[in-house]
Amino acid sequence: MALQTSGLLFVVLLSCTAGIQLDGNGYTGVLFAINPSIPEDPALLQQIKNMIQDASVVLHGAVEDRFYFKEVTILVPANWTKGNYSRAKTETYEKANVIIDEPNKSYGDEPYTLQYGQCGDQGQYIHLTPDFLLDDHFIKVYGKRGKVFVHEWGHLRWGLYDEYSEEQPFYRSSDGKGTLEATRCSKGIKGRFCVMSGNTCSPCKNDPTTGLPTSDCTFLPSQDTSVKESIMSFQSLDHVTKFCSDETHNAEAPNRQNQMCGNRAALDVILKSSVDAGTPQLSTPISKQNTTIKFVQRKRRVVCLTLDVSGSMMGPRLALLRQAASLFLRTTVEDTAVVGIVQFSSSPSILKTLTVIDDGIFHKSADSIDSNALIDAFASLATSDGNLTQQTIQLESAGKRTTDWFNGTFSVDRTVGKDTVITIVYEASMPKVHITSPSGESFNHSHFNHDTQIRTLSLKVQGTAKTGEWHYSLFNQGPSAQSMAITVTSRAASAEVPPITVRAHMNQKSADGSKAMVVYAAVTQKGLPVILANVTATLESDTGHKEELLLLDNGAGADAFRHDGIYSRYFTRMKSGRYSLKVRVQNQGSAMLSAHKHSGALYIPGYVENGNVVLNPPKPPVSQQPVEVGSFTRTATGESFVVELPPGSTGPPAFPPSKITDLRATLEGENITITWTAPGESYDQGTASRYHIGWSEDLALLRSNFNDSHLVDPWELKPQEVGSTEQYSFLPHNLSMTNGTTIFVAVLAENANSLRSDISNIEPVVKFVPAPPPPVEEESTNVVAIAVGVSVAVLVIASAVGGFIYWKKR
Ligand SMILES: *[C@@H]1O[C@H](CO)[C@@H](O)[C@H](O)[C@H]1NC(C)=O
Ligand SMILES: *[C@@H]1O[C@H](CO)[C@@H](O)[C@H](O)[C@H]1NC(C)=O
Ligand SMILES: *[C@@H]1O[C@H](CO)[C@@H](O)[C@H](O)[C@H]1NC(C)=O
Ligand SMILES: *[C@@H]1O[C@H](CO)[C@@H](O)[C@H](O)[C@H]1NC(C)=O
Ligand SMILES: *[C@@H]1O[C@H](CO)[C@@H](O)[C@H](O)[C@H]1NC(C)=O
Ligand SMILES: *[C@@H]1O[C@H](CO)[C@@H](O)[C@H](O)[C@H]1NC(C)=O
Ligand SMILES: *[C@@H]1O[C@H](CO)[C@@H](O)[C@H](O)[C@H]1NC(C)=O
Ligand SMILES: *[C@@H]1O[C@H](CO)[C@@H](O)[C@H](O)[C@H]1NC(C)=O
Ligand SMILES: *[C@@H]1O[C@H](CO)[C@@H](O)[C@H](O)[C@H]1NC(C)=O
Ligand SMILES: *[C@@H]1O[C@H](CO)[C@@H](O)[C@H](O)[C@H]1NC(C)=O
Ligand SMILES: *[C@@H]1O[C@H](CO)[C@@H](O)[C@H](O)[C@H]1NC(C)=O
Ligand SMILES: *[C@@H]1O[C@H](CO)[C@@H](O)[C@H](O)[C@H]1NC(C)=O
Repeated sequence: MALQTSGLLFVVLLSCTAGIQLDGNGYTGVLFAINPSIPEDPALLQQIKNMIQDASVVLHGAVEDRFYFKEVTILVPANWTKGNYSRAKTETYEKANVIIDEPNKSYGDEPYTLQYGQCGDQGQYIHLTPDFLLDDHFIKVYGKRGKVFVHEWGHLRWGLYDEYSEEQPFYRSSDGKGTLEATRCSKGIKGRFCVMSGNTCSPCKNDPTTGLPTSDCTFLPSQDTSVKESIMSFQSLDHVTKFCSDETHNAEAPNRQNQMCGNRAALDVILKSSVDAGTPQLSTPISKQNTTIKFVQRKRRVVCLTLDVSGSMMGPRLALLRQAASLFLRTTVEDTAVVGIVQFSSSPSILKTLTVIDDGIFHKSADSIDSNALIDAFASLATSDGNLTQQTIQLESAGKRTTDWFNGTFSVDRTVGKDTVITIVYEASMPKVHITSPSGESFNHSHFNHDTQIRTLSLKVQGTAKTGEWHYSLFNQGPSAQSMAITVTSRAASAEVPPITVRAHMNQKSADGSKAMVVYAAVTQKGLPVILANVTATLESDTGHKEELLLLDNGAGADAFRHDGIYSRYFTRMKSGRYSLKVRVQNQGSAMLSAHKHSGALYIPGYVENGNVVLNPPKPPVSQQPVEVGSFTRTATGESFVVELPPGSTGPPAFPPSKITDLRATLEGENITITWTAPGESYDQGTASRYHIGWSEDLALLRSNFNDSHLVDPWELKPQEVGSTEQYSFLPHNLSMTNGTTIFVAVLAENANSLRSDISNIEPVVKFVPAPPPPVEEESTNVVAIAVGVSVAVLVIASAVGGFIYWKKR
């Protein structure tokens, strides 16, 4: 007999914030949190306060007098004593929109936003370091703090992307002459192309095949107070105070903003597609005084579990609830927390009232213990104050209903191992248990603590659990099939090595079938992405629908960036019901820790002022070398979500293929060769039916009216399965490309129901004919180098020789 009953079970954690809200034109509910590893420093709080108040004024001017920061709360660490901090109510470290934490030293002090949604979607959090806030040296490097914060706010709140590009810092424009341009917005920012050698600006050399400058070339913008755009690329320049609008937007720059947002201007996205779309202008001016800042502190976490023991929770369900709650109290909740448990036994109407109080975190549990959903739901309530050492990490959560064996393995990696607890719950009779550690040590039921009342066996491994593969075998000794489940939790092995953690969530809490949902799992080690892991998500509804999805980190379909440690997939085959989300992460041997960064504030090495190059202080070196992470397993549970399809709908909604976001085009002779990752029949599931290719010399036309562009029908190209690499070559008819000609190419996919995807990112193709190399002349310029942070300014004068840039054939 399976443990099946009707009704839903909710585990409610009474600590939620409403998140960021707009009260009129002012943001409230913005939460900053300082990591407990940061030593107390009143100056840091003052700097944060200054930054927010400055940012509020900048923000107001940047979006046509629309937004400002009205109320900001700063959560300070529990052991800070020098200030007058009020008691935190619902604020927790994990809910912070902005975290102040030490960088991983190989990552540097560069401000960045964790953002991986589609254009216009909100990001996760902004990370600023204490040094960034305290050391004025960084003002020269990244610009005034308030403005840097507005740049990051653009990522976090409005889903804007960077308008510079580290991958493609230069491009040739479609002006017919193929003029060399730096990737930026706006084009009003002029500047110089330099190869810096010490303090000397030498002309850049071009790569003969692409005609673009070699990688040692940088663009140094000129100070020009008449140019105000844009904060998404040049927040560091004092005269830049606005986002690019339709009038100033550079739609052809090969940057993320254009790629992700369909070549739209930042301002257009803010006003039309972001969560704040439609906000009217504010008629009154805004000053620093309009921002209130509150400092709060939490001495101990108070967790309130509300358990439903009402009629629908009779029998086995109630037993299961006890098992889960007991496991939660024993292993999940950190040592310093205060836990309160509220039981309620009543009619479903009261359950509804509770949903109002909480508005947030719900976990739906499937009713049989072999899915282990209830225990996972409790485990995911583990919140922390930002101290990863204390956080409970789930290594394994698995269950099976069987008449005999339930065997499996889990890995203890070197980042975890302290407080390792193995818990086994069963339905009817105690199974025979055998656990073997990597060093061959054996554990059987005699080592376990047995609670017969709640049918739970638990074992706390002494000291630090051995690193490597652990094997478990459970044998059902009872006469009939029963469910058995195993949960393994652990904590960081030491305070020095941060543990690998997984966070799973959906892009929204409910769906009506008009759009596919997206599943995300972030696999990180203290913010650094763990790449090339095997990540699978299980979505299970209370109506019995179960879907397994392999999540991908390939930068295609639902996944914004390749190799950022965020694994994503569309969830398309949805049915009405309340779903639970569980993610399982395994290292198949290839997983790596990557130090590559995917968004942040642009560092510019210098700028041009009155014809002179002024150098900024150097940026601290950042390692980009991936590091192996060793074998590990993790499981994580996300908040549950509701799907409510329109009444009468049978089966999942009909979706088009997903938008192609990684189109690349190259010119080989007269042929244009394009490559992209295949979308599916329904977003990123299955196989599409055909592709349509369009090209035009007019970017705006291709964008707004694909059908009116020159269409190429790649009839011989049969779409491959989702995720495959597609390639196609074609000759643009009736077009003779001469030196400097640019055309733009886009692709869309169609499925068997004739549903078409959105058009892909638009790729420029530039014809470039190199000129024969002229004789080389060296140029140097007057260079004024200012080493800020050091009390002396160094002045280097070199002889100025009029030079020119030449392009050389490779
Ligand atoms: C984090 O927690 C551990 C274990 O409780 C403790 O030893 C350590 O001092 C804490 N670290 C910080 C930065 O608070
Ligand atoms: C608070 O805890 C941190 C981390 O353990 C420690 O560095 C600091 O000295 C403690 N005390 C104060 C007052 O910051
Ligand atoms: C601390 O702050 C509260 C409220 O903000 C205020 O009422 C109280 O007087 C302050 N105490 C001190 C010692 O400043
Ligand atoms: C910082 O990241 C590197 C990998 O890029 C890793 O080897 C190192 O352990 C990390 N350090 C800390 C303190 O997290
Ligand atoms: C900003 O502050 C000024 C002066 O305190 C006040 O008159 C104005 O109404 C405030 N603006 C908003 C939007 O609250
Ligand atoms: C369980 O382990 C203990 C101690 O290692 C051992 O003495 C005992 O024989 C084992 N029992 C079984 C059934 O294997
Ligand atoms: C499970 O493991 C035990 C040994 O621990 C083994 O005897 C048994 O055959 C295994 N069962 C299955 C189904 O793999
Ligand atoms: C990923 O792990 C799952 C089991 O969790 C396995 O079925 C699948 O084959 C693995 N995928 C790859 C690509 O290794
Ligand atoms: C152009 O493409 C066609 C057809 O794909 C091919 O036959 C031809 O060789 C290509 N020409 C060049 C110069 O690559
Ligand atoms: C483009 O043409 C296709 C096929 O003729 C048609 O289905 C689609 O609606 C057209 N799109 C627009 C925007 O007109
Ligand atoms: C090329 O141009 C001619 C004349 O303008 C036109 O009739 C023909 O359809 C064009 N071919 C293509 C493939 O666009
Ligand atoms: C092609 O155009 C570029 C940029 O306008 C120019 O520098 C180059 O000399 C031209 N090549 C030839 C062969 O004219």
